[in-house]
Amino acid sequence: MTEDVPPVQPRPSASATRAMLGGTFREIGQDYDTYRPGFPERAADLIVPQHVGTAVDLGAGTGKFTERLIGRADRVVAVEPSEQMLAVLRHKLPAVRALVGGAEAIPLPDASADVVTVAQAFHWFDREPACAEIARVLVAGGRLGLLWNTPDPDCAWDRACYDVAHPGLADDEAAAEPDVPGFELVEQEVVRWTERITRDLYLRRWLTVSSFLAAEPDRRAAMVAELEQILDESPETSEREVLDLRHATEVFVYSSR
Ligand SMILES: C[S@@+](CC[C@H](N)C(=O)[O-])C[C@H]1O[C@@H](n2cnc3c(N)ncnc32)[C@H](O)[C@@H]1O
Repeated sequence: MTEDVPPVQPRPSASATRAMLGGTFREIGQDYDTYRPGFPERAADLIVPQHVGTAVDLGAGTGKFTERLIGRADRVVAVEPSEQMLAVLRHKLPAVRALVGGAEAIPLPDASADVVTVAQAFHWFDREPACAEIARVLVAGGRLGLLWNTPDPDCAWDRACYDVAHPGLADDEAAAEPDVPGFELVEQEVVRWTERITRDLYLRRWLTVSSFLAAEPDRRAAMVAELEQILDESPETSEREVLDLRHATEVFVYSSR
């Protein structure tokens, strides 16, 4: 399964929609950290191939990608609007400087970051001002890494569950490159990896995904029933308590123009 949405999920067009869905993250810090998957080291290798001075993880959440930056930079900074998410991050990663803030007004000086990373969050940003802010805080020649965990297209049962959460999102759309004004794509890779996960944790994980969080209780219960039916009927998952869940982490690396 994936976390939240992939690169070209139709983006929230109205700021009110964005605020409503973004607000769901404010309520779930510990659950988010318990149930969501992490990211493979290979993704961090691509974005930060050499040790740097300062790496900033924007929309850092509870630090699931931030922790991959530790040891790759002298200073790791997490910027995140949700206090609840940041509270978990601070507890887990005390060496990280954790700042409340959004991508559209990053609370850092000009040219203060060698690398900015955005894991599973770029689609929440107000694109133009966020990209201008990222360019402002990056040093000349600095790198921007965007990444998303997406369902491995060969993992049919997870793909079917994904369609319950994000109906109508076509496969070809999911593979497209995000539009990042003012930046040039320098590297792109899909990193495939497998996670062993219990069925129970897999189902609970979906409850932390924004479309489940935002659904009315009856609709949410119906969506969970659909997931259970998929797991009951798929040959790779039926009657199994531990599942081999395949992920495809899409990584896009940019430099500012
Ligand atoms: C799906 S979570 C990803 C969190 C973390 N990067 C990870 O991969 O686990 C999306 C995060 O983006 C944050 N977010 C939403 N809108 C944002 C904005 N405008 N600027 C910065 N972060 C934002 C949310 O609070 C949430 O923590």
